Amino acid sequence: MSIAEDIRPALGLPDIQTLAAPDMAAVDALIRHRLSSDVVLINQIADHIISAGGKRLRPMLVMLAGRAVGAAGADHHQLAAIIEFIHTSTLLHDDVVDESDLRRGRSTANALWGNAPSVLVGDFLYSRSFQLMVELDRMPVMRILADTTNRIAEGEVLQLLHVHNPDTDEAAYLRVIERKTAVLFAAGTRLGALASDADETTQQALYDYGMHLGYAFQIADDVLDYSANADELGKNLGDDLAEGKATLPLIHAMAHSDAATRERLREIVQNGDAGAMPEVLAAIHATGGLEYSRRRAAQYAEAAEQALEGIAENPALAALRGLARYAIERSH
Ligand code: IPE
Ligand code: IPE
Ligand code: MG
Ligand code: MG
Repeated sequence: MSIAEDIRPALGLPDIQTLAAPDMAAVDALIRHRLSSDVVLINQIADHIISAGGKRLRPMLVMLAGRAVGAAGADHHQLAAIIEFIHTSTLLHDDVVDESDLRRGRSTANALWGNAPSVLVGDFLYSRSFQLMVELDRMPVMRILADTTNRIAEGEVLQLLHVHNPDTDEAAYLRVIERKTAVLFAAGTRLGALASDADETTQQALYDYGMHLGYAFQIADDVLDYSANADELGKNLGDDLAEGKATLPLIHAMAHSDAATRERLREIVQNGDAGAMPEVLAAIHATGGLEYSRRRAAQYAEAAEQALEGIAENPALAALRGLARYAIERSH
């Protein structure tokens, strides 16, 4: 990377939030307006998870991608709401599959109402997102969203196949996170550009940015599962290990420990032994698993920034670069 590229300005999170605030207020109003149903339990559960906030990173990316390459308006707000609905529905489903009981600093819907209501309200949000999508009446938008949600579902099932599998390696891990996380980021940024009538090359650049950012974001999430402050994170630490999910820090530790430790780690993954957390952390620390994972996340974040290089400079573009840095530096 040249020095000139190295010093391109990237906005910090407060400046990004200020820049995106008017759009995000409109998106939030739309989300709340379009959440409603005359089935009371749907409103209760949907409101429980939506009003807890979350970072709203994906809808912000839709808006900033759109503004980085053109003008943005009501269609972008609708697309941003669609992407957040899809994300929220995957969280409802994910917490059932992962048996998680804390999300966004609150008890999860599955902990409060049970698995069946959580899955069904997740389906409600999924299908509501498709109602919003059809209103836009644009076939390319429908194609991208249909393909994306299908890929996410594949990713979730692929992940399930790797649970308790100690042979999960980095390549397999990356295949899972591309589908379960990165494709939604990529769809969001591409759709933002598409709605701004950007040309195909520009749409592809924003797609590549979103994809790389999604990888970085998920690797950072997996590092936080071993290293965050739980109060700040708003989720329980150690959920991945408890579930027998080998993420990058542990995959690295398994690959670089001595034979006896490796055998022990394999056994822990096979059993999903949450009580073994101190042992696992010791192995991760001994092999530099967190540092390695942070480095990999930083490489993806850098690739995300590089994907934007051909686009003329503007504040939304600086905000996108800032979000690439935030994705890997965040504490929640
Ligand atoms: C959580 O996503 C799921 C992952 C892909 C790691 P976020 O960390 O964006 O969740 P919220 O929306 O801010 O709660
Ligand atoms: C992200 O994986 C799953 C989704 C894409 C919904 P995680 O299982 O790591 O997400 P968190 O940590 O529960 O948010
Ligand atoms: Mg989870
Ligand atoms: Mg996680």
